[in-house]
Amino acid sequence: MIKKAVIPIAGLGTRFLPLSKASPKELLPLVDKPEIQYIIEEIKNSGINDIIFVIRPKAKEVLNYFQKSPKLEKILKERKKENFLEEVKKLTEISKNTSFSWAVQKEPLGDGHAILQAKKLIGKDPFVVLFPDDIIDSKTPCLIQLEQVFKTCQKPVIALKKMPKEKLHRYGVVKVEKIANRIYKIKKIIEKPSPENAPSDLVVVGRYIHTPEVFQYLEKASPGRKGEIYMSEVLEKMLSDGKIIYGYEFEGEWLECGNKLDWLKSNFYLSLKHPKFGPELKKYIREIT
Ligand code: UTP
Repeated sequence: MIKKAVIPIAGLGTRFLPLSKASPKELLPLVDKPEIQYIIEEIKNSGINDIIFVIRPKAKEVLNYFQKSPKLEKILKERKKENFLEEVKKLTEISKNTSFSWAVQKEPLGDGHAILQAKKLIGKDPFVVLFPDDIIDSKTPCLIQLEQVFKTCQKPVIALKKMPKEKLHRYGVVKVEKIANRIYKIKKIIEKPSPENAPSDLVVVGRYIHTPEVFQYLEKASPGRKGEIYMSEVLEKMLSDGKIIYGYEFEGEWLECGNKLDWLKSNFYLSLKHPKFGPELKKYIREIT
């Protein structure tokens, strides 16, 4: 039903310095593949084949990663490195029947401003946005879970997750009205509230379904205190205008990768679960702790 996905990757990635100076943070590894590969796999497993990156000027590294590599495949074949050839072929498989395109964000003026750059490529249809810092480990892809809500309501849908009270101050926390199992009508979004001001224990995760109406709001949005246009402020403006936005508390594990500590924890989580590395790593951790 939804055909297009937007992934903004034009931020500065300051929390990953100096790593993000050496390589775009989306190409940092999560166990044995780059973070962005998990995101593309979720998109493809949700039946979406049209992927739009919002990139910094000339920053094509992520796009290049998904390019075919016939030369490398040929060498691996000649040298009979079948296992490694398999890895490269998996990547080719992901990129098959996928349209990758990009819009450029000239200056890092905020995540909302980044999405606005994709307007021309989106056109008139609803679309999904994925923030690559948020990896979701789930049986049913998170996007499919959100789409099921969108199918009936045809309004924007945001992924939500319950968090412990002492952590709420790090997130956008929503005020909600519960309307069905896991489904909420969002009333307000409060960025980084103190525990006493948090309106619920549900926080915004980087998966959204938008309708093109969001572009009207992004176009009108003026940059906030830091000179940036934030998606959360734009959504808040839509809510205050009486627009309806739903939230869905998805089923699955949220693996945060936006700062070094969370990224390391996510690496632990996935590597301990990994069929090939997990058992040996568990033994090793017991040995060294
Ligand atoms: P973040 O808030 O994580 O910012 O952006 P960041 O720049 O990536 O990292 P820090 O805060 O400096 O460490 C959320 C998503 O929005 C994109 C980022 O690339 C990230 O995927 N983004 C952010 C843009 O594309 N453009 C921007 O101007 C800001």
